[in-house]
Amino acid sequence: MSLNNVAFLLAILLFGIYDIHGLLRIKHDNVVVCYVASWAAYRQGNGAFSLENLRPEHCTHLIYAFAGLNASNWTIRSLDPWADMEKDGIGNYKKMTALRHRGLKVSLGIGGWNEGSRNYSMMASSSESRRTFIASTVEFLKMYGFDGLDLDWEFPGSRGGAPYDKQNFVSLVKELKDAFREHQYLLTAAISADKSTINIAYDIPEISKYLDYIHVMAYDYHGAWNKRVLPNSPLRSKDQLNVEDTITYLLQQGAPAKKLVLGLAMYGRTFVLTSVPETSKINPIGLPSLDIGFKGPYTGEDGFMGFNEICEALVLYPQEWITGWDNESSTAYAIKKDQVVVYDDHKAMIAKVEYAKRQKLAGVMVWSIDTDDFRGKCTLLHGDMALLDGHNYPLMKSINTALANNTIPPVEKPQPSSSSVQLLSNSVFALSMITMIYLSR
Ligand SMILES: *[C@@H]1O[C@H](CO)[C@@H](O)[C@H](O)[C@H]1NC(C)=O
Ligand SMILES: *[C@@H]1O[C@H](CO)[C@@H](O)[C@H](O)[C@H]1NC(C)=O
Ligand SMILES: *[C@@H]1O[C@H](CO)[C@@H](O)[C@H](O)[C@H]1NC(C)=O
Ligand SMILES: *[C@@H]1O[C@H](CO)[C@@H](O)[C@H](O)[C@H]1NC(C)=O
Ligand SMILES: *[C@@H]1O[C@H](CO)[C@@H](O)[C@H](O)[C@H]1NC(C)=O
Repeated sequence: MSLNNVAFLLAILLFGIYDIHGLLRIKHDNVVVCYVASWAAYRQGNGAFSLENLRPEHCTHLIYAFAGLNASNWTIRSLDPWADMEKDGIGNYKKMTALRHRGLKVSLGIGGWNEGSRNYSMMASSSESRRTFIASTVEFLKMYGFDGLDLDWEFPGSRGGAPYDKQNFVSLVKELKDAFREHQYLLTAAISADKSTINIAYDIPEISKYLDYIHVMAYDYHGAWNKRVLPNSPLRSKDQLNVEDTITYLLQQGAPAKKLVLGLAMYGRTFVLTSVPETSKINPIGLPSLDIGFKGPYTGEDGFMGFNEICEALVLYPQEWITGWDNESSTAYAIKKDQVVVYDDHKAMIAKVEYAKRQKLAGVMVWSIDTDDFRGKCTLLHGDMALLDGHNYPLMKSINTALANNTIPPVEKPQPSSSSVQLLSNSVFALSMITMIYLSR
């Protein structure tokens, strides 16, 4: 029997790899919700992401971001008919919903940062405009074959919204759910991770009744706007602006763990230091910075860098960038002279996944799958995945592997030496990993 066969059997035993829909998945019981940013198609070079680059086996749910609101007559609308529609262009709606045949749930996201809050606030403010919106949404989902709607109103009660949005958002969610029931459409929402925004925007117990899942956007805690280098998505911190405090707060407010989906950022926030440190071998967290961060080559947005851009820079210019790990926030950073990026690498992702598992959350969500290393340009960086040479989606693979890893976490005390059982289980795990990746080529 070849090594591959042995590894394959072990992998089946451990993870039950299955293939019902022609996809080789790492099996686990959690949801992995993947947002796809439609505009990623317009990025240049290695950054250009089309749906042909998507590997659906890494996700259980996909959300196509974003549709918009026509504020003249309160109907849902395509924001990019060329990208979305078949008759005008490349037809991504139908391409996305075709993936339902491979066992995924495919929803349409509506809203997003650029759509603002004001028009949604007005739409939600009367039962008549809500009814128009809901009827148009049901028709729209049906027309393109989506499984559901993801509300990305950012945010009720702020950014041009009104104080009564909180109540109207409950009505909107309830009435959507009522209309969706007979079609069995999924209803989800992406919510802010910021406590003060949560307080203004959401009646957590009420919306929890009607939403199938709540996607917690547990990132953007910090950025260049702080004028200080701070983590985008700290797992822990002393100032309460962190993943664990957000989730604890939502649970206290009455959100059921089984509906909470923890958001993971496949990007970092960038900073320009006010002065170049004397040594780059320092932890830059807390250093003063300018109020605008630098851009990534493909995403081209101030203060933002996709993981694919970060890892490509580290691989192309290893002598220029110094990388490190911030223990308190469980996030990674990289420094090059006065430039700093703080981001989630695979270790940071695993730490968050393990936290989500401990809290028995429904699973995790990623914003967004199009900035993982989807071309497999950075294999050199993934030391413990060195055997996965030439392979793509290192973060998605780390996330799914961590979800499938059901080892009982050891009680927090130092282990004097690894027992033979631990050693065996580690070897089995390593073999299975190799196999899984081998099989998914
Ligand atoms: C919005 O609705 C109005 C009224 O029906 C229509 O004239 C207009 O073309 C729509 N806009 C878009 C972008 O669909
Ligand atoms: C809100 O609706 C108005 C009127 O249709 C439109 O001009 C405006 O662009 C919309 N706002 C945003 C942020 O899309
Ligand atoms: C709203 O506008 C869209 C786009 O012009 C149109 O297709 C739709 O029929 C209108 N809906 C209502 C309820 O007026
Ligand atoms: C790392 O962080 C953990 C949890 O916050 C803490 O218990 C531990 O003491 C820290 N280790 C170091 C070396 O700072
Ligand atoms: C699996 O989980 C255990 C317990 O949390 C951890 O010690 C181990 O490193 C994990 N293995 C992998 C490969 O992630």
